[in-house]
Parts: sequence; C-alpha cells; structure tokens
Amino acid sequence: MAHVSDLIATDIEQYLRNHQHKSLLRFITCGSVDDGKSTLIGRLLYESKMLFEDQLAAVKADSKKWGTQGDQIDFALLVDGLAAEREQGITIDVAYRFFSTDRRKFIVADTPGHEQYTRNMVTGASTADAAVLMVDARKGLLTQTRRHSYLVKLLGIQHIVVAINKMDLVDYSEQVFRRIVEDYREFARRIGLENVTFIPMSAFKGDNIVAPGAAMPWYQGTTLMAHLESVEIDDERMQRQPFRLPVQWVNRPSLDFRGFAGTIASGEVRPGDRIRVQPSGKESGVERIVTRDGDLPLAVAGQSITLTLRDEIDISRGDVISIAENPAEVADQFEATLVWMTEEPLFPGRPYLLKCGTRTANVQVSQLKHKVNVNTLEHLAAKALELNEIGIVNLALDRPLAFDAYRDNRDLGSFVVIDRLTNNTVGAGMLHFALRRAHNIHLQSLDVDKAARARLKSQKPCVLWFTGLSGAGKSTIANLVEKTLDAMGRHTYLLDGDNVRHGLNRDLGFTEADRVENIRRVAEVAKLMVDAGLLVITAFISPFCAERRMARELLEGDEFIEIFVDTPLAIAEERDPKGLYKKARRGELKHFTGIDSPYEAPQSPELRLDTVGLSAEDAAQRVIAELKALGII
Ligand code: ADX
Repeated sequence: MAHVSDLIATDIEQYLRNHQHKSLLRFITCGSVDDGKSTLIGRLLYESKMLFEDQLAAVKADSKKWGTQGDQIDFALLVDGLAAEREQGITIDVAYRFFSTDRRKFIVADTPGHEQYTRNMVTGASTADAAVLMVDARKGLLTQTRRHSYLVKLLGIQHIVVAINKMDLVDYSEQVFRRIVEDYREFARRIGLENVTFIPMSAFKGDNIVAPGAAMPWYQGTTLMAHLESVEIDDERMQRQPFRLPVQWVNRPSLDFRGFAGTIASGEVRPGDRIRVQPSGKESGVERIVTRDGDLPLAVAGQSITLTLRDEIDISRGDVISIAENPAEVADQFEATLVWMTEEPLFPGRPYLLKCGTRTANVQVSQLKHKVNVNTLEHLAAKALELNEIGIVNLALDRPLAFDAYRDNRDLGSFVVIDRLTNNTVGAGMLHFALRRAHNIHLQSLDVDKAARARLKSQKPCVLWFTGLSGAGKSTIANLVEKTLDAMGRHTYLLDGDNVRHGLNRDLGFTEADRVENIRRVAEVAKLMVDAGLLVITAFISPFCAERRMARELLEGDEFIEIFVDTPLAIAEERDPKGLYKKARRGELKHFTGIDSPYEAPQSPELRLDTVGLSAEDAAQRVIAELKALGII
C-alpha cells in the first residue's frame, strides 16, 4: 500500500524512476476540524508512511497527554499542530501536504472551513482534481457542506467525494448513510453537481480509508484511497480538449531560430498541424516541437515545449496558439463569476488589471448582475462586492482576449483581478461566455476627427479636472475660469457636480459605488467633449484616486489637467454654503465627504490651489496662467 517499497533497499534508482513517473492527484478537503478532517489527513499521512519517526513519537505522546481518543493515536493533533505552526507566519492560509502510494502521488490542500475563508478555498482548490467533503454522520448536511459544494462546483472540480465520517458513532448504520446520501443527491441536483461518490467511513478507526471497514459489510464500494488512486486527473481530461498553447515567451537565441515557448494547456500537437495565433487570427503550420530532450513527434497537455512555425508571424507573450480548426474564442466583454478577496469592496466601473495566464488587460466590471448567498444559493441585488462575496458580473476589457469557458478549460478560462495601485490580487474568477455585443460592436472610423474639430475652433482641447471637498470652492473657481476663457473666445463646457446630478446622473446617490459610477460617466462624457474639440471643465468632488486616474487615462498625455482645490475640512465646514455639513453633523445626511465618507487627496496634481490664502478670482487667474504655461491658450 504505502510507498515505502522494498525497492528503496534493493534498487533505489528504479524506485526514484517509478516515483517520478507516477501521476499526481491534487485534492482538497473541506469541512471543519470537528468533522474529522484533520484526523483523516493525519491518517492518510500515517497509512502512507509519510510521518517521520519523531513526528510520530510526538503525536503518540501528545495523544496520551491531550488526546480525546484514549490510548489510540489522535491524528488530529498532528495536523492541528502543523496548522498552529503555520498560523505564526501566515502569508497563505492554505496548508499543502504531500504523500504517495505505489500508484500515485498526492497533494492535499487543507483549507479552513469558515465562511470568511472562501478566498482560501478558492486559492487551495483552483488546481484541484478532486474534493473530499467531510460530513459528520451524526449531524448530516450542514450549511457549510452546501457552501463548500457550491464552491467546488464553481471551481469546476471534477470529482467529489462525500466522506460520511464518524460512522462508528452511529453504530455503522446503513440507514444513516442512505439518508445523508439521499439528502446530498437532492442538493447536488439543484446545483448541477455530477460525479459524486459517497463513502461511509471512520477516519478515527480507519474504516474505508485504506482498508475496507469490516464493520460495514453492507457497503461494497471503494475505499477513499482506492478511489483517489483511480479517478481521472485534470491533465488527462485536458488532453481531450482542443490544442491551446498560451505563449509564455518568445525564444530567439539567434537570427535563424524563433520559437514560442509555454506549457500546453490542453490538447495535443504534431508537426504539420495547422494553427491559429490569437487574438491576431493569423494562421500557420507547426514546423518543429522543440524540447530540452530533442524534437518530439507529439506533445500533449501539461508538457512544456517550444514550437517553431512555417511562417514568420508576429507572436508575443500572452498570445494563444490554438489548433486552427477549433480555435479559442476571442472577445473583450464577458460574463463571469467573480470572488472578491480584499477588504476594499469591488465597485463596478472602477478600473483594475485582469490577468489570465500570461495575458494582462485593463478591466472594469460593467455590470454587477447579482451576488450569490453561498449558504442559501439565493441571488441578491448588489452595488458592490465585499470581501469573500461571490458575484455574477459582466466584464469589459480594453483589448481582446483569447479564451475558453472555464468549464472547458481552467487555464484559459480563469483570471485574477489586480489592484493597479498596490499590485495586490484582489479577486479571482471564471469566464462563462463572451457577450454577444462584444462581437457585434466595432469601432467606426470617422473622417472628421478630433484634430479637425479642434483646428476649426483654433484651440487645443483638454480637460480641467477640479477636485476637492464639498464647499472647497470648485464650482466658484471653475465658473470664473470658464468666464475668462469664454471672454477670450474659447469654446468651453463646464460639467458641474450638482448640475449633472439633475440629469444624466439623476439615478445616482452618494454611496462609494454610486460615486465611482458618477465619475466614470463624467470621465466618458469629458472624453467625448474633448473629442468634440472643447476646453472641458469639470467640478466634482471626485473623492477617489482610482477614478481620477481612470479619467486621466481615457485622455491623451497632455489633455488632462488635474486641479486640486485644497481647502481644509474645517474651513469648508465653516463656509458650509449649502448647510450640508451641518446636516451631516446632525446625522441627517449619510456618506458626506469628509465626515463619514473618505476623500483621497491627489498626490501630484498639475495644479494645487490653496484657497485659504487665495481669493476665488486669484485662484482662477492661477489656472489661466497655468494654461498659458502649458501652451493650451
Ligand atoms: S462625487 O463625490 O460623486 O464627485 P459630486 O461632486 O457629484 O460628488 O456631488 C457633490 C455635491 O453633491 C456636493 O457639492 C453637495 O452639494 C451635494 N451632496 C449631497 N449629498 C452629499 C454627500 N453625501 N456627500 C457629498 N456631497 C453631497
């Protein structure tokens, strides 16, 4: 059973070779410590002789001291001991353990079960071939079992084992087992979970873990270990999918060699195969499959190779090479499931980075369709996604991406979302399908362009983006600037917060999510107006760096002039032109900027106006002077 084989003594080389060529199964265990998860993992390590003598001695001693299991070894102590260790220097909250048998190697990801750890489960499970869901026979299905099942389904794990544990505590009752199986089947149908195997067991006594349990003659099925040794691993499944090679790098050691290197995500490839490069769509034929061990006549999913092609075509890191007759899809708008992993909520409209394998793009959630209550599977309307929440979203990318639905190909269908300021991973998700509109909307090229319109007006279009607290003086200064420009014969337009909120943005309030959307729309409108050749002035609190940066990036380098109207909160509150600060202080106005909603001051605006030492007229003159200095007027 265990991998400690006689070969180690007689022919260590042969042993190592065998070991190297064994397949590797990755699986996760879900459930809480109470369900016997730690005991199960401890036993798998023990039975496969993966414990060192000193670890074993320590557990034996601890079992005597602390154990709840009489004279027997309490395996839970072993795993929980390791867990305690990892808590000291946590970066990842998922513990991976390794063991092997004569037939296979295994990596088990042990993920904490609580609700706030959805994130960890996603991390631990994203490469898993199988999931073992622990159910305590005495308790039956719990909310947490349902939540884990939903996540397992979401992550596309192909093989599910429902381990009905602690059978020894229900007198090995077949009836208890059957009832739980029925309950689970009913639930599995609802979420569309297939390939479920039910195993009655006692991790503590060892029944049906490695050896069949003599106490349950009514159960004729496999033991957990036998099952894990035989289920199909994902790499094998992926070999049946069409060929995809995400290009990791372009290998060009000399002028006469150009190879495209990466790990085959799915399918197989042979010299002579017709391929398509995506997203460009160019086609060619495979010339050679180069590896360190020489050229190959065939390469399959999971192998790292370098391809050379018959034709000189432009391919770079991040492109996908597909089999021509069955290529990946290419789109820039998708429906997807998104799991949010950070304190700062996700807001639709806010720009993030999306990374899908080696490919990166700017991304916005264009619509948060609903979030999912993972306990009840209810769909809930929402304006933002909080930590550990799961939402169904539409995504809009700034460039096309070659992809497969996650269901078909985890490598080409999964992505992470990255915060652009901190570079932290803040979300992870799975692509469902391309939105049809993504295929049917193309950019129209027009003959009269921005330059032509600007020429007619004899001006250099730009945006003067005023930002600052309510009552800072944005609208007053902006108004004076517009008057001056108008008197100079310039074509201007002033977009003002209060005014725009009477029309275009009448549906928006002052939650963070609504402010993000407010500024997104205003930035898009400002961009159109710059395109129309105007000098655009905007006066919005625009409290978040992320959206001001988005507005800046919608425009060209010298078209965006950020003007920080820098008025301390105390002064703005003292002025209180609309009496809103007083209302907010009395608690009659929620989410008021500076009071109970944040304002992120610009780090490096083009211009900072200190309104304490400067009258509105002087401030406006500063702006005009800056425009002259920048060559705008
Ligand atoms: S922003 O934050 O989304 O940029 P915007 O500039 O459009 O805000 O609107 C701000 C104006 O709305 C303020 O000048 C004030 O007159 C009014 N207002 C009403 N409620 C609030 C609030 N809760 N916070 C800030 N401003 C508010």
